Amino acid sequence: MPGILEKNYLSHAEQTNPAPHGEGQVAWECPANIAIIKYWGKKLLQLPLNPSLSFTLSKSKTRLSLAYAVDPGYSFDLDFRFDGKAFPEFRQRIHAYLQRVLDFFPFLKHAHLAISTSNSFPHSAGVASSASSFGALALALCSIEQKIHGTENIDTGFFRKASFMARLGSGSACRSVYGGAVLWGCTQRCAGSSDETAIPVSTPIHPEFNNFRNTILVVNSKAKPVSSSAGHELMDIHPYAEARIIQANTNLGLILDILNAGDLIGFIDILEHEALSLHALMMSSNPGYILLHPNTIVIIDTIRSYRRDTGLPVGFTLDAGPNVHVLYPAAIEGSIRLFIEEHLKKYCENGIVIHDQVGEGPEWFEV
Ligand code: PMV
Repeated sequence: MPGILEKNYLSHAEQTNPAPHGEGQVAWECPANIAIIKYWGKKLLQLPLNPSLSFTLSKSKTRLSLAYAVDPGYSFDLDFRFDGKAFPEFRQRIHAYLQRVLDFFPFLKHAHLAISTSNSFPHSAGVASSASSFGALALALCSIEQKIHGTENIDTGFFRKASFMARLGSGSACRSVYGGAVLWGCTQRCAGSSDETAIPVSTPIHPEFNNFRNTILVVNSKAKPVSSSAGHELMDIHPYAEARIIQANTNLGLILDILNAGDLIGFIDILEHEALSLHALMMSSNPGYILLHPNTIVIIDTIRSYRRDTGLPVGFTLDAGPNVHVLYPAAIEGSIRLFIEEHLKKYCENGIVIHDQVGEGPEWFEV
């Protein structure tokens, strides 16, 4: 059963008669995001089991340009370059995605596409790039759709469709098409929230969280032994799935109040609780698995001791992997950078540390 938005987009797609044509190039930069309340487990077509909330980053982003030629006489063709080189593994994933979304973008059936993409962060840093990549691709496809229909208008509807399309590539990607604090998933706490697309958080956010910092400590850059897709799937039969859904909804309500009140201590409490709960779910899956590295644990302990000793509001979160995201307000950046340099960097693979912060969201650029 398609959802409400899914039907909207399908019916929009069906109105594309006679077949459109055109050629040109579009380009978008889309940032990664870091989840504060984690999405873990899905149902039906990439819909989340629980609502999640993330901060969109600023410097960690994917830059994607897409040259297109659409003509009723063409059949689908894809050239894909990553960092200027062919990358068969990525191409295959993008190809499969484009075939899956044909009903939403019928012009693709008659399109020759040349995608050229690169990330601002090193490919080997183990930083998840699927959110920024699928965000950028979805935005580019929405731009082409508008161009060939002559309806160029980068408005709310444009971003809503981009979020919907990004979600079909990678769930968390739907949050990357907006800047700042972003919510994905139905919750009574936010009018307009949806499982099908993300929305920017409408609750006012306290200035304490302006330009919030996020330093990524790269503990291990190797591919994960268990993918996020496999991890989500294990939630289908997880003994604690029901409790997790309740926990995530409770934490979401709390974090919205905390963001509004500027309660940094409360923020860190939920932030770390969510990170450890995510990994506890992995460990208690059947089969259980561990993505943490011994250095992840040392870093967590060191951050907690530093916070106890200094009283500074610095905390950590984790993705589905061993790397640690350190979050802190801009006002204490000097002290935390020094702390990272002196006490945490030594636990990172080749000393790789990426300093980022909450950003404004994607940007299109001229090519
Ligand atoms: O979007 P996916 O399928 O790669 O899953 C992302 C899951 C987490 O990063 C662990 C949590 C989240 O909400 O981003």
